[in-house]
Parts: sequence; structure tokens; C-alpha cells
Amino acid sequence: MTRRDDAPRRTRPDFLSRDERFRSVPSTNDIVRAWLTEGTPEVCLAVADEQTAGRGRSGRSWVAPSGTALLLSLGFWPAYLEPDRLWRLAAIVALAMADAAEEVAGLPMGKLRLKWPNDIVVEAPRAPGGIRKVAGVLGESEGAGTADVTAVVGIGINNNWRRNEFPADLTDVMTSLREVSRGREVETETLLDAFLVRLEPRLLALRDGHFDVAGWHDRQVTTGRGIQIELPDGEILAARAVGVDGATGALLIEEEGGSERELLAGEVVHVRLAPDAEAAGPTTSAAGAADPAAAPGAAAAEAVSGGGGVTN
Ligand code: BTN
Repeated sequence: MTRRDDAPRRTRPDFLSRDERFRSVPSTNDIVRAWLTEGTPEVCLAVADEQTAGRGRSGRSWVAPSGTALLLSLGFWPAYLEPDRLWRLAAIVALAMADAAEEVAGLPMGKLRLKWPNDIVVEAPRAPGGIRKVAGVLGESEGAGTADVTAVVGIGINNNWRRNEFPADLTDVMTSLREVSRGREVETETLLDAFLVRLEPRLLALRDGHFDVAGWHDRQVTTGRGIQIELPDGEILAARAVGVDGATGALLIEEEGGSERELLAGEVVHVRLAPDAEAAGPTTSAAGAADPAAAPGAAAAEAVSGGGGVTN
């Protein structure tokens, strides 16, 4: 673990209790988890230039060349949230980052979408599945339902990664803010500051019992589209995404035959755009993967994550 003492000095926003910058760590989620275990109050923030064991959803790894992505984790003591609302922490992180990234990269509002529940993606008609992923979110909680509940939400967003630097197996499914904005450099510190400014009001609202259901709903890229959902037993479910449930965090689908169903994160491994919907127009999809939630720890992670996610 290498600390960065030469990082540009920022004024720490009031809502942060601890804010540290690292050159290289195994995983920022693990740093923040350790801080919470020591009793560090919310909100603690670890930012790294590089991770040597970055983690994505479903036990996958998360990789990004040093300095090309903003990699951070936030630690919370969310006793103010009911256990079935913990997913909202990951949602506000994704929403605040999408807002910040559009501003800093000079993108039109709404250009960045959420792929249920928390991937930040951009529509890319020529990509397989019709989207490319810009950022992924990993939420992990402990002690849900107790007064000592803690949660870590990590996000990795590709800001300055150039297309020719992506590993071959990722060029089709991943992209970066630099690519989306046609070459504009997106400075990591500027993006971090813009993110924190947008996260604070969303967190204060959450503590007061308010969540931006409309904003979360509007950013969803799958709504109204045909999708294919991979379930933990390997079954592929063809359905139409109807929307998302702002109370439970579920993906709302209509199955063939017209029956409606709600899917929680732990019930889904992958969501993809159905090939016919892809051909039909501008769109969506997903290279997504959710945790199997086979173990209590995995279920806890789902409580924060809420749903799918792809990994670099
Ligand atoms: C996914 O889409 O699979 C989630 C990826 C989450 C990656 C971030 S990078 C910062 C934080 N530290 C980690 O080890 N993972 C998250």
C-alpha cells in the first residue's frame, strides 16, 4: 500500500470524516472496510491511482492502468436506512458520478445512462449489446438490520483510458469518458471534486429519508427494451424491462405471456439487450453480472449493490 503525499491538495468537504489518497493499494474497498472496522465514522474516502487486486461484482477482478481511472471507495454507517434500502447508497454514488462525469467531460445531460442497477454506460450502436461501460460500482455491507450496519461503496470510472490502451477483450464492451467526449482529457482531481460536490446533497437527502427516484428511473437504459436475463441456475429469461422500483431497487420486467415480475440483484447474474431490440433502435444492454448471493456475505453485498454490474 503506497500513500500519495504529492496529490493535489483539496479542501476536504465537510461530510468526509477521513480522506486519503494512495498511489497503489490492493483494493480501495478493503482499505475503507478496515477503517470502518477500526471505528472510523462516515463518510470515509479512499482514492487510488492504481489497484493491484481491484474487485468487481461476482468475484471478478477490476483492472485499470495506473492513472487512467478514478478509483475510490466510500465508507458509511447507514443506520438511517432500512436494510432493504441499503442499495440506495450505491445508487446515489452512481447518480452523483454520472452527473459529475457529464459536466466535467462536457457531455450532454443524460448522455450517460445507468445499466441496472449501477453500471454507468453509454449507448454505442456498433458495440455488441448496444452499450459500452464507463464505470462500475461495488457495494458491500455488514451487519444489515443491526444498529452497527456498515457499508462500503466503491466505484471505478474510466476517465482517461484511450481506446488503444484497452485490453483486446474489453475494447468492445468498455469505454472511457475521454473516448465518449472524443478525446477531451478528463482530469481525475476535477472529476473527483465534481463527484463529491454532487454526492453530498444526495447523501444528506438519504439521511432525511429522501431518494431521487425520478432521477434514478430516468437514467435507466433498459427501460422499455427487450432484455435477456441470466439467472443463477443458468436459465436465460427473455423479457421486456418495464422499469425499476424506487422502493425495493428491483428491476421490473414483463415476461413473455405478459406476467410481470420483480427481480432483485441477487436473483440475476447478467442482463443483456435482446438482439431484436438491439436491431430495433438506439439502445441498451448489458454486459452485466450480479453476485450469486449464495452466501450471507454475498447477500449483504447485494443489499447495497441492488443488482447487476460488469467488470473491467
Ligand atoms: C463492477 O462493475 O463489477 C464493479 C466494479 C467496481 C470497481 C471499483 S474500483 C474502486 C473499488 N475498489 C474495488 O476493488 N472495486 C471498486
